[in-house]
Amino acid sequence: MKILIINGPNLNLLGTREPEIYGGKTFEEYFSHLQFKFRKLELSYFQNNIEGEIINELHKASETFDGVVLNAAAYTHTSVAIADAVKAIAVPVVEVHISNIHAREEFRHKSFISPHAKGVIFGFGLKSYDLAISCFIEDES
Ligand code: DQA
Repeated sequence: MKILIINGPNLNLLGTREPEIYGGKTFEEYFSHLQFKFRKLELSYFQNNIEGEIINELHKASETFDGVVLNAAAYTHTSVAIADAVKAIAVPVVEVHISNIHAREEFRHKSFISPHAKGVIFGFGLKSYDLAISCFIEDES
């Protein structure tokens, strides 16, 4: 099973960006942990700060991957275009957030993506990604 993790804007700064909210690990460090933990799966990772690049990757994912774990970061709350892409593709998308977006500013409570996602996981720190990947494994049995 092939799973693609897509991280949106500013998530390349994990480790140094607001560590009290997002923790002190880089995503690259965490990705190594995920690859080991889910070594029976084929995990890939893509990060981009540009909305259109994320959309292009979602379109491509449809052809190659069995599932997508998407943290669109701030675009979650603003991007009709990313939401439309999630709706348009056949591959299931699990939306994740590191922080509990409902415990933060009101503008973070709205997600354009959630209505089109297979499910949403947020608030567990980087463990949100583990939980999202696990959803796809359970689908297999
Ligand atoms: C985030 C939450 C968003 O509101 C924020 O803009 C991010 C990260 C999270 O993972 O908690 O960049 O998606």
